[in-house]
Amino acid sequence: MTIDKIPGTDIVWPKPIYRQHELPQDLIKYFLDRKQGLIDDFLRGFSSLEAAANHETRGTATLDRREIGMPIDDTAPFVPTVLDDGSFKFGEEHVSNWLTTGFKNICDNEKEGLVHYRLEPRDSEKAKTFPTAMDITYDLLDHCVMSTYSVIKPNAVLLRHSGPENRNGDYLRIHVPLIVPEGDVFLEANGEEVQFSEGIFGFNNQLLHSSHNYTDKYRLVFIIDLSWDFLKLPHPGKFRPEYHDFAKPFTRKEVYVSGRLSEYYRAISDLYREK
Ligand SMILES: [Fe+2]
Repeated sequence: MTIDKIPGTDIVWPKPIYRQHELPQDLIKYFLDRKQGLIDDFLRGFSSLEAAANHETRGTATLDRREIGMPIDDTAPFVPTVLDDGSFKFGEEHVSNWLTTGFKNICDNEKEGLVHYRLEPRDSEKAKTFPTAMDITYDLLDHCVMSTYSVIKPNAVLLRHSGPENRNGDYLRIHVPLIVPEGDVFLEANGEEVQFSEGIFGFNNQLLHSSHNYTDKYRLVFIIDLSWDFLKLPHPGKFRPEYHDFAKPFTRKEVYVSGRLSEYYRAISDLYREK
């Protein structure tokens, strides 16, 4: 077996994707037992996933961070709509292509000066609306920094980025697919892809990754970040700027990296480069 190293370095690429059979099977069973509950909670009172996702109690345009003073131009380019000819259409109006409803979120990133903490209280209105997600979050509270529902709208892409909240690499991002339309709906991490229809998977969000929905329907997943220790998997180490500099190309679909996005990668890489 050849060891997959970053070109010109002795750094071994971390494994991008852990598929269902590579994760602890008791945990898989735990999530599968709660899958229908997660779906029922999200859809309760609505006639469709589209109606639920667009309701104020469910979907928040996660990349719209204007309320904390972040210009929309910084984040809107990440979520284009895909046109019939396969090209991407960018703009502020597409920022709601990715919607989330979160339960726990700790982001403590000294280099970006970004400290964010939220844990939904047990007795909140949201807790009553989403009892299954709350139970999961509190069951796994000591091993988890983030849990959320995540919606991608039809014909939308969340373009390549890496997770600012996981520069220390302490967590694997687990995806529990809940409602996945038939067709081409997948996640890509450092050039490797996994269809959401394949089942539960985890991916290393220190690496560049993108999420794609090339169907005319909504996609719903539950996401939870769990520690490597808890998963009993080998810790990949801290983020390295080489993960951006030498990222493997994603060849199946053209993933737009230019202009503001390439500036973003360079800025993040430089921040973590050892001086
Ligand atoms: Fe991400």
